[in-house]
Amino acid sequence: MWKRKDLVGLRDLTAEEINLVLDTAKAFQEISLRPVKKVPTLRGRTVANLFFEPSTRTRISFELAEKRLSADTINFTSSSSSTVKGETLRDTVLNIESLKVDIIVMRHFASGAPHRLAQALPVSVINAGDGMNEHPTQALLDMFTVREKKGTVAGIKIAFVGDILHSRVARSNVWGLTKLGARVTLCGPRTLLPKGVETFGVHVTTDLEEAIHDADVINLLRIQAERQSECYFPSIREYANNYQINREVLKHAKPDVLIMHPGPVNRGVEVSSDVMDGPYSVILDQVTNGLAVRMAVLYLLSGVRKKRWGTVPVSPNQT
Ligand code: CP
Repeated sequence: MWKRKDLVGLRDLTAEEINLVLDTAKAFQEISLRPVKKVPTLRGRTVANLFFEPSTRTRISFELAEKRLSADTINFTSSSSSTVKGETLRDTVLNIESLKVDIIVMRHFASGAPHRLAQALPVSVINAGDGMNEHPTQALLDMFTVREKKGTVAGIKIAFVGDILHSRVARSNVWGLTKLGARVTLCGPRTLLPKGVETFGVHVTTDLEEAIHDADVINLLRIQAERQSECYFPSIREYANNYQINREVLKHAKPDVLIMHPGPVNRGVEVSSDVMDGPYSVILDQVTNGLAVRMAVLYLLSGVRKKRWGTVPVSPNQT
């Protein structure tokens, strides 16, 4: 049974909790194949989507998941809100909480922002990506996709290639995948590997061929120029020469390797267009699976309410 009020990261989750989300998502997957793609599970509940940083996939995926579960939704983007007039995050959130929302989905450029919110408020908080820290629902949908395509996560070898330093997707995946028994490799230029990466409990290399030669899955990460205040490599062209996954490079990979990417993709940089659109790519399957995973997370959290004295599980039918 799910007992957490919030989902702020995978670092503290157990393998059992991760598997519960993945199993619940499997059950929700079927709803999107029905002619009428809607169930009354969250009828009467209100979800606020607070996005303080740009997003395409995560924002529309949460919004559609909420609609499929019949929740009422509030959509907030900082660029069109009173934050541009100087209102603080705390005041913005207190105003939204005054509307008696049940769940807050939050993306924020500051690492730890959803954690602080979760501690301060009695409502459930879902982290939709915080700074360079975690992006738990992205990692859950990545694991769901690996399990769907390879039959299991345990024992599967997954290589992450690219800007590991700035990647919250890589961090959440490392915490989640290692708990489920996957073998993880992190690969990128030395300057884009985080300090202390040797403590992550994964294999680390700067050599692309070494990273991919026995990988079952290659998960590509974008160079996050918006988070880089200094030069980490001489040029995008040199980066692509050394780390781009293209047809030539894939000759060194397994014939049934899967190519994954959380998006947004910089075509022609971390991956060539023909590989992105080719038979190895499951990038759009990841997006499809994200909907079922987010429906599962919303459903599981809707069954737990926090009282001042602690967290209590309640039946999803209880209102
Ligand atoms: N994967 C991901 O987080 O994409 P968005 O930034 O478009 O939400």
